Amino acid sequence: MNTADYAINHTAVWAQLHQHQRSTRFLHMRDLFAQDPQRFEKMSISFNGLLLDYSKNRITEDTLRLLIELACSADLSGWMHKMRSGEKINISENRAVLHTALRLPENTAAKVYVDGRNVVPEIHRELNRALAFAQSLNEGKHLGARGDCIRDVVNIGIGGSDLGPQMVTLALKPYQQKVNVHFVANIDGANLAQVLEKVFAESTVFIVASKSFTTPETLLNAKTARAWFLQQGFQAADIARHFVAVSSAVDKAADFGIAPDNVFALFDWVGGRYSVWSSIGLAVMCAIGAANFRDFLAGGHAIDEHFFNTPFRRNIPVLLGLIGLWYNTFYASASHAVIPYDHGLRRLPAHLQQLDMESNGKQTDRYGNRLDFDTGAVIWGEEGVNSQHAFFQLLHQGSRLIPCDFIVPINSHYDVGEQHRVLAANALAQTEALMRGKTLAEAYAELADMNPRRRDLLAPQKVFPGNQPSNTLLLDKVTPFHLGILLAMYEHKVFVQGVIWGINSFDQWGVEYGKVLAKRIEPQLSDTAALAHDSSTNGLIAYFREHQRERNT
Ligand code: F6P
Repeated sequence: MNTADYAINHTAVWAQLHQHQRSTRFLHMRDLFAQDPQRFEKMSISFNGLLLDYSKNRITEDTLRLLIELACSADLSGWMHKMRSGEKINISENRAVLHTALRLPENTAAKVYVDGRNVVPEIHRELNRALAFAQSLNEGKHLGARGDCIRDVVNIGIGGSDLGPQMVTLALKPYQQKVNVHFVANIDGANLAQVLEKVFAESTVFIVASKSFTTPETLLNAKTARAWFLQQGFQAADIARHFVAVSSAVDKAADFGIAPDNVFALFDWVGGRYSVWSSIGLAVMCAIGAANFRDFLAGGHAIDEHFFNTPFRRNIPVLLGLIGLWYNTFYASASHAVIPYDHGLRRLPAHLQQLDMESNGKQTDRYGNRLDFDTGAVIWGEEGVNSQHAFFQLLHQGSRLIPCDFIVPINSHYDVGEQHRVLAANALAQTEALMRGKTLAEAYAELADMNPRRRDLLAPQKVFPGNQPSNTLLLDKVTPFHLGILLAMYEHKVFVQGVIWGINSFDQWGVEYGKVLAKRIEPQLSDTAALAHDSSTNGLIAYFREHQRERNT
């Protein structure tokens, strides 16, 4: 084991924060608002069409001061600089972490060196190749092997090679160009089968999106798609016009049968969950076109500049990271809900789940030392208002502390009746109700006309403790630019927390073990050999074998 260069939980400020939590935990936000009419002005920041209101949190100026001191103890500025300048901060994989470089504008004077080479020109070369390909599909210039215009694009990929591109494509539906984009991630055959039912081989391009080009789910789905394509009467030579790949393993893509000219490169210093900005975004480029994709990158770059150049007290991702960490570490709150009040953003919680939980769901620090405190929030959520009719009961009256992010576009792309105002009103009402709560006296007052016995029964049921924290993010509109800001903002928030906990947020060893065991179990499901797992796994495999055979006979 290596020695940690610092142990954050042994710093004085860590202890001070615990002490501060104990002495402030009974403060109610209602009172904090009553005491300071300027609280919103002091605790909100607007940036390029985005407003972050973080005033509905269980924090005071002292809390923020201590949290910022904690960030300084963890040398957050130093780590920000290391990331931005291409230092190999992904220690376990010996890689730089440069998703921010992907968002640099083409005319930038910035140079970013990896192993002594400035990577900025390569980034733009690959970006331009991918954008040109997307454009050629939408303009009907890249034709299928039989001369058909391409109408459908199927992205086959999983994890970061699916979640980000899919979420962005759905969110930016109003910007859709000519081709329809579909996503196949799951190895459950239903996923591929249902997409293949909708498309025609002659007018479809498949993108095999896999950074490693070893992910079994993606490779099996891609092989099956290729077999389906050939079954439609096409020849092997036609594959070149219908299959492209995005990968950092060009040789492996070639082994699969995709010519190097049809492979869009992905750099090894881009993590899967940070890769939508790279060639992995090819499906998004096809969906929204080059100009919109460039706006998306510009939004990401704008918040990068803000993140790298703004003092912590006014820095949006830093504040979000610190406030999230306040609850996670000092309130022992395990989860964090993300509620987008926008139908297009309905896959945002799923994307953020991977981004946050795969990055910070770790109990070993970057040097291999066991951490003796909890890290990594359980991220979950669902679009509003549907979620209000599902799990908000627990947020309002349950016993747990669950911080929430409310994401609310001010303007909708869809001019349908009164819907958008009602939607936004619901979002704002939830944040108010969660913060204020309702006292027993207020509940009694509401039931003034009721018979006393029934009132005694009902009033306690109508008490809302309140003091439930939330951040509200108002977005001008879900445009490519604003979505870019939002996504990159969350990436930096995760980074901030990882740095303070001492975690390497850019590896994901935790997903490997299950993959290895699945490889071992897979052949066992269809043979009769003796099993040597634990009794539960043996029993489950045996039951599966038996019933699988029954179905097959
Ligand atoms: O689930 C683990 C993981 O490695 C993710 O980090 C990644 O996004 C996903 O698998 C897909 O990987 P690849 O793009 O290499 O197929």
